Amino acid sequence: MKFDTPAATNPIDRLKIVGQPLDRIEGPLKTTGTAPYAYERHDVVPNQAYGHVLGSAIAKGRIASMDLAAAKAAPGVLAIVTAENAGKLGKGEYNTAKLLGGPEIEHYHQAVALVVAETFEQARHAAELIKVQYAPAKGAYDLAAPRDKAKPAGTDDEPADSAVGAFDGAFAAAAVTLDATYTTPDQAHAMMEPHASIAAWDGDKLSLWTSNQMIAWSVGDMAKTLGISKDKIHLMSPYIGGGFGGKLWVRADAVMAALGARAAKRPVKVALQRPLMFNNTTHRPATIQRLRLGATKDGTITAIGHDSWSGDLPDGKPETAVMQTRLLYAGANRLTRLRLAVLDLPEGNSMRAPGEAPGMMALEIAMDEMAEKLGLDPIEFRIRNDTQVDPEKPERSFSQRQLTECLKTGAERFGWSARKAQPKQARDGRWLVGRGMAAAYRGSPVIKSGARVRLDAKGTVTVETDMTDIGTGSYTIIAQTAAEMMGVPLDKVVVKLGDSAFPVSAGSGGQFGANSATAGVYAACVKLREAVTGKLGLNAANAQFADGQVRSGERSIALADAAKDAELVAEDSIEFGGLDKKHQLSTFGAHFVEVGVDAATAEVRIRRMLAVCAAGRILNPKSARSQVIGAMTMGAGAALIEELAVDTRHGFFVNHDLVGYEVPVHADIPHQEVIFLDETDPLSSPMKAKGVGELGICGVAAAVANAIYNATGVRVRDYPITLDKLLEKMPDVG
Ligand code: MOS
Repeated sequence: MKFDTPAATNPIDRLKIVGQPLDRIEGPLKTTGTAPYAYERHDVVPNQAYGHVLGSAIAKGRIASMDLAAAKAAPGVLAIVTAENAGKLGKGEYNTAKLLGGPEIEHYHQAVALVVAETFEQARHAAELIKVQYAPAKGAYDLAAPRDKAKPAGTDDEPADSAVGAFDGAFAAAAVTLDATYTTPDQAHAMMEPHASIAAWDGDKLSLWTSNQMIAWSVGDMAKTLGISKDKIHLMSPYIGGGFGGKLWVRADAVMAALGARAAKRPVKVALQRPLMFNNTTHRPATIQRLRLGATKDGTITAIGHDSWSGDLPDGKPETAVMQTRLLYAGANRLTRLRLAVLDLPEGNSMRAPGEAPGMMALEIAMDEMAEKLGLDPIEFRIRNDTQVDPEKPERSFSQRQLTECLKTGAERFGWSARKAQPKQARDGRWLVGRGMAAAYRGSPVIKSGARVRLDAKGTVTVETDMTDIGTGSYTIIAQTAAEMMGVPLDKVVVKLGDSAFPVSAGSGGQFGANSATAGVYAACVKLREAVTGKLGLNAANAQFADGQVRSGERSIALADAAKDAELVAEDSIEFGGLDKKHQLSTFGAHFVEVGVDAATAEVRIRRMLAVCAAGRILNPKSARSQVIGAMTMGAGAALIEELAVDTRHGFFVNHDLVGYEVPVHADIPHQEVIFLDETDPLSSPMKAKGVGELGICGVAAAVANAIYNATGVRVRDYPITLDKLLEKMPDVG
């Protein structure tokens, strides 16, 4: 199905099942520990052996020699895979560094060997006996240092530079200006389930049970890496314990399991040990961001400039932190630039709303600072600079843009009017109390997505698509879509996901999954409805599917009857035909935060948070709310604690485990509220939906920073806002 004209009224608009706050259909499997995750699939293939990955102990250089003798002789060892004996390997499209290093080493903890043994303990023990001699080389590990040599970096969709009007002159001439630099640190996904895979060969065919967000990408990259054709690979990832962008691609676990299984002639399972993951896999790269804002005295932005520097391995990509600045606020003179420095740290890549999450961390503090300089309420300042068209390309309007409504609704619900505009004015015992806010913004792209639906003689509808559920609720919203389309209750729908034998979907990433994948299911259901009416001899044009019946004129026939002789199967995909080019599809919101800062110790406690989101039709308010709450929690982490500490001498992340890399826990976030504004977007898809998960993170950290400023009068521009950055400057409040 081609989607190239705005969606008309369709069966989804009934909203009997779609749009309802239903429980997750796979919830009982998750809560009883019976949803099978990759590493736990003991039953899928017999005789599984264990692989343990050895990571490089240097960040850059060469392996001079590797002595495997002791490891080979260790008990239980079946095979050892290294670059020397693995045969010729290609490189996938989605990884920058090789997933098996040697003799060249590209980053710290790059996999250099896999030991396969009868037991996990034997594999781990033998890996420790491998003696590697390295010839280290000098690398670049500190973003601040090579920043001046950073090069423009972008793509056709996200070019390095954008310029409108004459920024320099307008900024110089502006009545009120702000020129401030902000930094965001390297961060780790730190998802709960580690990267894990089981690989089994049957002749030249590979089965891979893994944990992965993008099935088709990953089949492609496995094929490229192993030098085999895609149709020889069966990749399965039905349950995923969090991805956060770290599982958009295959990593060393998958490739090494496949190589290990080939070498040992046995199925092999590999989980990346947690202390390896932080340097072996990908992370969100650090940024340095310079914001320049110029405005008239009444708060109209006349110049807006955003430069962002980040680093990555050679041939890597930038953190696209300026994207929202191209779209969020009006202003006649504009300049944004992405610059990329070569660093020899582990590979930087997508994490939890790449681009906008760190970009909003900087932009939305800058907006707060500028509002203060103008003597304007920060909400009023944003509303004054709202726009209904793409400020860089005014001929493009937003498909829907309710930023102002989000800001106003949030202000009312949060009690913004009771906030003291001047900092250091509110006190609650030992706590200095402050309130802050930020806009929320995240793009909402659409991606071709396919599905197959089956109807059997019992009236059960089965959906098959390679879409994944990374904890987001895909199973449930897909079931809701099929149930609504076919007029059956939710328990008559079976959803099968995450299998490369199924039609290729959008996958889970960039908050494009929910809208695109359900639209693909919609398209397949339209075809199945045609097959049903054809089979039943009903007029397709006026057929109603409801209550397990198909009605047309005076006739009403049980849906199941259409399949009583043979199962009916329909397959289709949604293909987006350019409405998303003519219009800007984006999601908007507002984040509000109240903090307490201990007057003596500068310890920060978040007291309450509110998010207001305008993100198209909300397919399931319960799972969407969970998405946003999770995202707000990630925003709190980014604001206050999450930071990979870089060893700039040896080139690795020092705090590479869950003790050293802190993420928020329940106790950190006492009260969170989410409001969804009514919105249907007929330009987004027949579902009229968008994504919402990543919107929930974009802006949160700045709202926390702005609240801390409101509480203490201390402006911290370097995340995370740990108490050492506050303590020296805390007000003397006795
Ligand atoms: Mo998302 S970071 O694109 O999985």
